[in-house]
Amino acid sequence: MMKRLIGMAILLFTCTVGLQACSLPQKKTNQATKKDMKTLIVYFSFTAGNTKTIAEKIQKEIGGDIVRLETVKPYPKDYETAVSQGQHEVERRYKPELKPLGVDLKDYDRIIVGSPTWWYKMAPAVLTFLSSNDFTGKEVVPFMTNAGWPGTVIKDMTAEAKRHGATVSDAHEFRFSSNSTHYDKMETPESELTQWINQLKNKRL
Ligand SMILES: Cc1cc2nc3c(=O)[nH]c(=O)nc-3n(C[C@H](O)[C@H](O)[C@H](O)COP(=O)(O)O)c2cc1C
Repeated sequence: MMKRLIGMAILLFTCTVGLQACSLPQKKTNQATKKDMKTLIVYFSFTAGNTKTIAEKIQKEIGGDIVRLETVKPYPKDYETAVSQGQHEVERRYKPELKPLGVDLKDYDRIIVGSPTWWYKMAPAVLTFLSSNDFTGKEVVPFMTNAGWPGTVIKDMTAEAKRHGATVSDAHEFRFSSNSTHYDKMETPESELTQWINQLKNKRL
């Protein structure tokens, strides 16, 4: 009798542990499919720090790493000279050499890329970045800032990222003032920026 009781206890113990052991890997798999995306924010900014401001707000809210694109040869300090050099570069689809990023894109699932509008196009530094990297298997989220003439920046950034293997989503435009006394005043409602960032925040793989 005693032997049978001990036998049943061992059987019950084995089944319980066995079932738990069986269910553990299942749980892990479910968690793995819902993991947070590892995000990198890459931006170029020149005039008033507008694109930088948005990039930093994104990072503050959703985390991830952030990198500012820097050209090896800096743009002229005089604004008008820089604007006309910018026009010349955009018209030629010039791709200025960039300083090393300091990160490995392989480590990220999602890359949020910000550009100011330069002569209706993305800034040349952003063109260099998008056209010289492989985004296969990654999600690219383009955003841009402008002063009222957005041109084809989002369309062009989307096409460039796709051409290099990315899936593209959640692209967004942000308008700032065209008045030289306050280029840094955002005209897009702050609530629109908050809503967009929340959308990015809640996104999972
Ligand atoms: C070279 C150059 C060209 C620009 N061309 C445009 C343009 O075509 N359309 C526009 O809306 N704003 C244009 N702007 C204004 C910037 O896109 C706008 O102020 C932007 O928010 C600046 O971002 P940043 O402060 O991050 O550089 C231009 C600025 C520069 C320096």
